[in-house]
Amino acid sequence: MRQAGRSLPEYRAVRGAGSILDAIADPSLAAELTLQPVNRYGVDAAILYSDIVVPVNAIGFGVDVRPGVGPVVEQPFADESDLERLRPLEPEADTPYVLEAVKILVDESPVPVIGFAGAPFTVASYLIEGSPSRTYGRTKALMSGNPDLWFRLIDRLADLAISSLRSQIDAGVAAVQLFDSWAGALSPAAYERFVQPATRRVFEAVPDVPRIHFGVGTGEILHLMADTGCDVVGVDWRVPVDVARERLGPDTVLQGNLDPAVCLGPIDVVEAEVADILRRNNGHPGHVFNLGHGVLPETDPAVLEQVVHLVHEMSPSLNSQLNRG
Ligand code: CP3
Repeated sequence: MRQAGRSLPEYRAVRGAGSILDAIADPSLAAELTLQPVNRYGVDAAILYSDIVVPVNAIGFGVDVRPGVGPVVEQPFADESDLERLRPLEPEADTPYVLEAVKILVDESPVPVIGFAGAPFTVASYLIEGSPSRTYGRTKALMSGNPDLWFRLIDRLADLAISSLRSQIDAGVAAVQLFDSWAGALSPAAYERFVQPATRRVFEAVPDVPRIHFGVGTGEILHLMADTGCDVVGVDWRVPVDVARERLGPDTVLQGNLDPAVCLGPIDVVEAEVADILRRNNGHPGHVFNLGHGVLPETDPAVLEQVVHLVHEMSPSLNSQLNRG
């Protein structure tokens, strides 16, 4: 998950003070930062060190990621003329450093590497709002006030996600994750009409590897997010795993869902929460244990180490698979 490394002293030591986009553009640094949480925590997969705004920035839309704030856009998307600022991505030319980082990791990572992209809605929300938003007021106003322009915008963003994901798959990632982090801001009707078709198009264009679909606060739209052609649906801590499985049926693979804030509390409470998630999953093989959202920077790495250890210890099927006994 985002920021798994940020809690680590070794991350702060090599990350430097500049924009994260500069760190991402240095492939050997990006590969090193990808592996830091793998080496420290012993997790079973690595998520590429990059950001969801890398493709839009690479084609010149003018985005930066401000520490403590998030993506900030110089000139937000406002009208039809802004579509011209969203040309197609040519991954080899525009984001060669991403592909180079993936190639280094395919050689060096002891665990499978997960590539990713931002989903059309969440990236659109940053481009339209100009900075992180609580209400998504401008984004929703564009949907309802100018649906034609909205669909043209997210069509372009779907194409960017497809090109980016395809290039990462060609470079060797073992799975991909589509981050629609803020889709939970939408009603089911709005999600179904304004977002689901573009997201479905992204998943249908990358059939080659397992595909994870992630969002936060998505309890009421989980069934719609599952119905996009993805293979795994992320669930945050607001919906218990057994309840999510009731909603989606036994064939859907779930990812989640420890509340990252729980990891700031006493270790016995953390352990009880981990055990509760595994108990609710009831040995179902279709479960990727994860946090419900990104690691909070103030998290004690020792707590995350213990979470990984416990999940391994308490997952019998995983133990036999990994030959951990
Ligand atoms: O764990 C990892 O580092 C994996 C790589 C990763 C990053 N961003 C690096 C990052 C991934 C998978 C992302 C995806 C991402 N970026 C999402 C989707 C996932 C989610 O968290 O919902 C979103 C919404 C973004 C946009 C973004 N980038 C935000 C909101 C922030 C936080 C700003 C802050 O400092 O609080 C970022 C910055 C960012 N991206 C950091 C990292 C490690 C932290 C700051 C830094 O080192 O500069």
